[in-house]
Amino acid sequence: QSPIRVALLGGGTVGGAVARKLTSNADALAARVGRPLELVGIAVRRAGRDRSDLGVDPALVTTDAEDLVARADIVVEVIGGFEPARSLILAAMEHGASVVTANKALLAEDGPTLYAAADAHGVDLYYEASVAGAIPILRPIHESLAGDDVRSVLGIVNGTTNFVLDAMDSTGAGYSETVERAQALGYAEADPTADLEGFDAAAKAAILASLAFHTRVSSADVYREGISEVSAGDIEAAREMDCVVKLLSICERVPGEDGDGVSVRVHPAMIPRSHPLASVREAFNAVFVDAAAAGELMFYGQGAGGDPTASAVLGDIVAVARHRVAGGRGPGETAYADLPVLPMGDA
Ligand code: HSE
Repeated sequence: QSPIRVALLGGGTVGGAVARKLTSNADALAARVGRPLELVGIAVRRAGRDRSDLGVDPALVTTDAEDLVARADIVVEVIGGFEPARSLILAAMEHGASVVTANKALLAEDGPTLYAAADAHGVDLYYEASVAGAIPILRPIHESLAGDDVRSVLGIVNGTTNFVLDAMDSTGAGYSETVERAQALGYAEADPTADLEGFDAAAKAAILASLAFHTRVSSADVYREGISEVSAGDIEAAREMDCVVKLLSICERVPGEDGDGVSVRVHPAMIPRSHPLASVREAFNAVFVDAAAAGELMFYGQGAGGDPTASAVLGDIVAVARHRVAGGRGPGETAYADLPVLPMGDA
């Protein structure tokens, strides 16, 4: 049996975890797919650095990403950001490779372009790891709930902000000192702006809303407010009302006389301590879905980190590899509803 060739773009925390699991769990993955998966290379940005931390054969490490994508059946993009990620994904598809990516910013800005390229070249585009790390949430919404009508999706999909708000709630401390503590503990990045100002959660909300409502929502459509204005006094006031403050990504289908629209927004919200989302502590993530027939569903788990995110990436690799073995593809974009995104005031 010829192996299915897997190329990794990005040798960071997630890329390293994926590479190690592809290698150490090769036999089990081959059995699950029906053919071996062969890691053919890991593209990294800088040459000459010692990459023994990746725990794989050093000969697999390359700085020539363009060459690598031309030699693969599945390209896994965990570089993040817009370029060179976008060009490499499009090049991979042109070469006939299926793509697995964790790139929420790119999908939320330019998902339709990537889907159109996947359709044009007859390949898969899977991105479970882009929202809420380890939590299986995109395929459940896109596939398992495709026969139901999703009414709303409420997500805590940014671990950094949840950690900060939860720590402010449990210690009574102020915003700035809690952010500094989160940075010291490694929960917040050196530049945590994208997390704290809600850009990360807005990109994830755009992806969730697009799949939940079968429409196209981009990050620019999402009303966004981060947590930097939340004070210790706000948290205390919420506590007095038996509530907690959470940064929520809220996606709702809004019925209207001239047809439905969707409201997609990210902002700090007070929720009662009795709500299931109030129990999401520290840097954990959770997504609460309400669908017409299913009713309420809750998905909970780790939204970041090497191994948890690698779990979602590897699940996608197995899924698209299985499609190759079966000679087919998974579902493409299902944006047929074309629902208008309503301004914040109409929600
Ligand atoms: N920076 C993100 C978070 C993790 O804090 O949740 C990856 O999406």
